[in-house]
Amino acid sequence: MSALTDAWGRTATDLRVSLTDRCNLRCSYCMPAEGLDWLPNDDVLTDDEVVRLTDIAVRLLGVREVRFTGGEPLVRRGLVGIVERTAALSPRPEISLTTNALGLARNAHALAAAGLDRVNVSLDSIRRDTFAEVTRRDRLDDVLAGLYAARDAGLGPIKVNAVLLRDVNDDQAAELLRWAVDEGFELRFIEQMPLDAQHAWNRDRMITADEIFTRLEKEFTLTPAAEPRGSAPAELFAVDGGPATVGVIASVTRPFCGDCDRVRLTADGQVRNCLFAREESDLRTPLRAGASDDELAERWVAAVAGKRPGHGIDDPTFLQPSRPMSAIGG
Ligand code: GTP
Ligand code: 5AD
Ligand code: SF4
Repeated sequence: MSALTDAWGRTATDLRVSLTDRCNLRCSYCMPAEGLDWLPNDDVLTDDEVVRLTDIAVRLLGVREVRFTGGEPLVRRGLVGIVERTAALSPRPEISLTTNALGLARNAHALAAAGLDRVNVSLDSIRRDTFAEVTRRDRLDDVLAGLYAARDAGLGPIKVNAVLLRDVNDDQAAELLRWAVDEGFELRFIEQMPLDAQHAWNRDRMITADEIFTRLEKEFTLTPAAEPRGSAPAELFAVDGGPATVGVIASVTRPFCGDCDRVRLTADGQVRNCLFAREESDLRTPLRAGASDDELAERWVAAVAGKRPGHGIDDPTFLQPSRPMSAIGG
């Protein structure tokens, strides 16, 4: 077996598979109100192709965790079947989902039965009007129903991801944390990254990890959590002595690229070795041309070998990737 190791000594064991670039929300920090030019259906990997490539990753390349992302992975019709087939792979990977939870109420039990281990849910506000302002859809109740269904189905520990936007929801950090602690969800605040389709990200307007702390510490006592961070993106803090924790994912001001263990597969079958990669490696074309598992694995190894040491957001030559977050997978 080959490992997905890069020139800086990092090994990718966490595969993030984007199942679609489509989404049923329109978060303002992600895409414009009218949506984007979605990938043509023929370019999107079929369920069989997704499972074939995932099998290669776990059986030949040392991947141990598989996370399905989007766009919004729940809009992919075959999701339950893909999860079931992924759970049957050997060695069985840990399987998780990053979702906005719309429609999760209908699917949570089927997904758990299929082998899904846990979900991370994106939720930036628990106020109906703010939620609708951020997502441009009045669907907060559906998201909450999805979250509660996931908890009932045992899809935990459930993490909730929140992006704070200046003058939109940045006054709600403590309120969100209070709610998450009461509900037993692990809340993580994420610094906004330059990955929006509109290229409107502005470092000076981004809410930094330091600002998030300042806001939270007005109402909570935060102490560094005991558990080691490893390659997790979030720095964890015990809330008021614990056991509840809150995480901060400071991708911009405190990058964790040196410990990165991720590799990505886009919905159209391209390997991306980094969220901010400038190049992709096409697996779909050789796959459809009849390449063997070993040939595909070799291409995958080469794709990761060329990973750059970090995202380079602070470099003067930084260029935002041509694909937005919604087409890369979170
Ligand atoms: P866990 O395994 O539950 O820790 O998942 P995760 O936090 O890696 O996954 P999730 O999809 O919930 O990601 C949360 C957020 O972390 C994303 O929305 C991104 O903002 C950020 N993130 C995820 N992966 C990367 C990455 O590779 N690089 C950077 N810089 N940020 C990332
Ligand atoms: N920066 C940081 N996080 C983002 N997300 C979407 N766009 C960005 C961005 N530009 C988050 C969503 C969701 C996850 C998939 O990625 O809020 O939690
Ligand atoms: Fe890894 Fe790239 Fe994310 Fe840094 S930005 S943590 S290198 S995927």
